[in-house]
Amino acid sequence: MTRTAATAAAEPLLERSAELGAVTAVLAAAAAGRGGALVIEGPAGIGKTSLLDATRVRAEELGFRVLLARASPLEREYGFGVVRDLLEPVLRAAGPEERAVLLDGAAALAGRVLEPVETAPSPTFAALHGIYWLLAGLAERRALLVAVDDGHWADVPSLRALHHVAHRIADLPVLLLVTRRPGEPGGEAGELLDALAADVAATLVRPAPLSAAATATVVARVFGGPVAPAFAAACHEVCAGNPLLLGTLARSLRQAGVAPDEASTGAVHDRAPAIVAAFVLPRLRHLPRPAGAVARALSVLGPGAELRHLAAVAGLAPAVVTEAIDRLAAAELVVPGPPPAFPHPLLGQVVAERMPAAERHAAHRTAAAELAADGAPAQAVAAHLLAIPPLRDDWVVERLRDAARDALAQGAPRSAVSHLTRALAEPPSPDVRPAVLFELGAAETHLGPAAGLDRLQAALRVTTGATDRARVALRLARGLETAWELPRALAVLQRAVAETDAAPDVDPEVRLLLEAEYVGLARSRPETRADALGRLARLLPEAGPDSVAGCILLASSAAELVQEPGRAAEAVARARAALLGIGRTADGSFVTGVLYLAAPVLAAAGEIDAAFRAADAAVTEARARGALVELGAALGSRAEMGRRLGALLDAESDVRLSQDLAREAGVGAPEPLLLGSLLPVLVECGRTAAAQQELDRLGRPGPSAHVNLLAALGRLRLAQGRPAEALEALLAAGARLATRGWRHPGLLPWQTDAALAAHALGRHDQAGELAGEALRTARRHGADVALGIALRTTAQLAGDPAGLAEAAQVLAATPARLEHARALVELGAALRRSNRRADARGPLRQGQDLAARCGAGALVAQAGEELAATGARPRTVRCTGPEALSVSERRVARLAAEGLANRDIAQALFVTVKTVEVHLSACYRKLGITSRAELPGVLG
Ligand SMILES: Nc1ncnc2c1ncn2[C@@H]1O[C@H](COP(=O)(O)OP(=O)(O)OP(=O)(O)O)[C@@H](O)[C@H]1O
Ligand SMILES: [Mg+2]
Repeated sequence: MTRTAATAAAEPLLERSAELGAVTAVLAAAAAGRGGALVIEGPAGIGKTSLLDATRVRAEELGFRVLLARASPLEREYGFGVVRDLLEPVLRAAGPEERAVLLDGAAALAGRVLEPVETAPSPTFAALHGIYWLLAGLAERRALLVAVDDGHWADVPSLRALHHVAHRIADLPVLLLVTRRPGEPGGEAGELLDALAADVAATLVRPAPLSAAATATVVARVFGGPVAPAFAAACHEVCAGNPLLLGTLARSLRQAGVAPDEASTGAVHDRAPAIVAAFVLPRLRHLPRPAGAVARALSVLGPGAELRHLAAVAGLAPAVVTEAIDRLAAAELVVPGPPPAFPHPLLGQVVAERMPAAERHAAHRTAAAELAADGAPAQAVAAHLLAIPPLRDDWVVERLRDAARDALAQGAPRSAVSHLTRALAEPPSPDVRPAVLFELGAAETHLGPAAGLDRLQAALRVTTGATDRARVALRLARGLETAWELPRALAVLQRAVAETDAAPDVDPEVRLLLEAEYVGLARSRPETRADALGRLARLLPEAGPDSVAGCILLASSAAELVQEPGRAAEAVARARAALLGIGRTADGSFVTGVLYLAAPVLAAAGEIDAAFRAADAAVTEARARGALVELGAALGSRAEMGRRLGALLDAESDVRLSQDLAREAGVGAPEPLLLGSLLPVLVECGRTAAAQQELDRLGRPGPSAHVNLLAALGRLRLAQGRPAEALEALLAAGARLATRGWRHPGLLPWQTDAALAAHALGRHDQAGELAGEALRTARRHGADVALGIALRTTAQLAGDPAGLAEAAQVLAATPARLEHARALVELGAALRRSNRRADARGPLRQGQDLAARCGAGALVAQAGEELAATGARPRTVRCTGPEALSVSERRVARLAAEGLANRDIAQALFVTVKTVEVHLSACYRKLGITSRAELPGVLG
């Protein structure tokens, strides 16, 4: 949509030297690579657009590339309308090759915004991220001025994008300029604009009203000669220094033949009311009828209107419209274009407001039909439909649904929600209403974890066809799962499955998906377990890794099999088969439905490396697709597997990134699950206070807390010397696992920690029983890591060096490095206590080195104390290695070691290139290296 520059300041601006000084300063800073935001704020007509135009001219003189969009009231609900106005001209001018370069990498996510395609809805953050990178890419070539006029009319997704960009341009040659009328609009758009203006890094310019002297100058300009001071003073009084009102008033006075002398001051006051309307409307009335009709059509269609659309809306032949535009232009009411536009949006507003409502509604309806017939984007069509009252028109409902679909595909769920809300109010015919309710509920689920659920519930109540009902139930259940409302999710699935059982003609794919989802959840609840397992057995033969349903079934079956001693190999084979689905099925539920089940199976069976690689592949895949909900969830899984490998810092970095995603984009792995991985990591690192803080933030885990979190809480309490609470949490975790039929000791080794807690409480019998049970189960399942841990615990309780040596030997053969280290340190400690000091030193040193490589500060310190007690000379454990890196530094270093360029690292981590550079140089310093080629070697 092109727009004519509405106001070109032909005359130099008066009294704007301070403002222009600020403009020059921010432009110079941006040109030097220190980008920022400039917000020009003030009431209608104060001169915002004029300042923007002046800025644009200066920027062009300084060699900036200028992207300009002028928002219009019609576009408020047009998702990413402003962003599109900004970017489309660049991409159109770019040619295919340059376009491909610009849309490379993360910027491709912006492509979805610019070219509506049929894709799964992506969360807004992906789109924002893509837009940022597209701008960053442009700024690499030439400094950039991104200017948005009339920001108060911009659509919310675009404002979010600007907001997102504003926080990431401090190191880029980009100046973001937005003009706005303060206090307009309300709601989220207003908040985003407020936040933009209030940002510390933003420069706020508020053009002041013109002084009496400047007012006199303007009036003199209009009258083309001297004016009486009293006359100018009256104008100043009436217009209070507002240049727009002043110009309009002065021109209308002159046209009315009023002389600018002292005697005419009364006329100034008389004419003051409704100056604008008085200026515009009479002149319109004096023109031939078609001119009025065309002006009204233009006010409805907005700037950039095509001739044929004007003709249709005005009900006139194109030739008549052309002539009318000429007349309007001659009267200075319209800038002829093409495309034609009002010289100032206020004129369009006055014309629209004075239009009889019935005519205005009919005009919007015709405009919508015209645009739709032209194949215009659905949201452009819908913009007109949102301006007319509900009329029970199914065509309107369909267009609004189309627009909502596009908005979702572009990551603008809020726009989708407004469109569908309006569609529901139409109201749709009874047979369409359930579908609209469903779509609205589904769109709302993108707004937050618990959003849309009531609506989906309502949709389910009125949906009739068996296949449709199954679809709605599935969506509702997934929403409930995301909101961590598992019992409710299960209830929904249970009912839906019973219904589809009774309905033979349900779409087979939908049926399978529903059943798989049900099986995945129902397996772990005592009341539904038998039914779920029966279905699993029946469906498994059909299951393959080519569909999400197939993967869920394979993973569920793997999770069941691994519980049975002697069947680990089969379980592993199925888990691996399920994980083959990564990347083949672009379905939002893959990670939570499949990876969360299959990866622990692999890990329990001793294949922690494979589990880590699967999670890693899911991370890479989700990142490439910009699927951020899945990325957050996959990071959670990789963190847990990293922790089990003993890669504590990597695990923490994954959890942190997942938490950042949740904060920034409202998506991510469920917090209790993340903390289940994070707390033990922090405890191992010796940061129990930090762990406690994380826990406080979440609130006390209730009785239905996730088992991993309960086990993590147990470990924290143990480290804090609160064994009674530790034991309570660990036994609760154990009980929960039992009700779910989880018996494999490698899934969550809670018994060994519980044994240590009981021991600390002096309950030696209970401790012995727990440890003994852990040992027996581990042996029965042939689970090496669990066996090593159980051997270590049993021997630790008994102070038995031989048992600890055996534990260390078993663990040395597994990928669980940290557990190996722990066994060695305990072995050393036991030897020391039995007065074999010299023998103790070897395992203590080896354990300490291994612990240091894991980043396990607590164990390093423990080993250090033991070593001191053996009389060994104190030694400094290397702290300049990878362990010395901060979490963010390590994250950057790891990607750099993988061969990613700084720009790619920045894209992957949602930070700026500058941040990557800063982190990398810190890494080099701490690691004592000078180039990235050395990174893989030192990171290990
Ligand atoms: N400093 C100035 N000196 C003289 N004339 C000015 C000055 N600033 C603005 N004007 C004139 O006032 C009129 C309105 O200015 P402009 O369109 O920039 O206002 P605006 O703040 O953008 O209004 P709106 O909120 O309606 O968009 C224009 O005709 C412009 O030429
Ligand atoms: Mg303006």
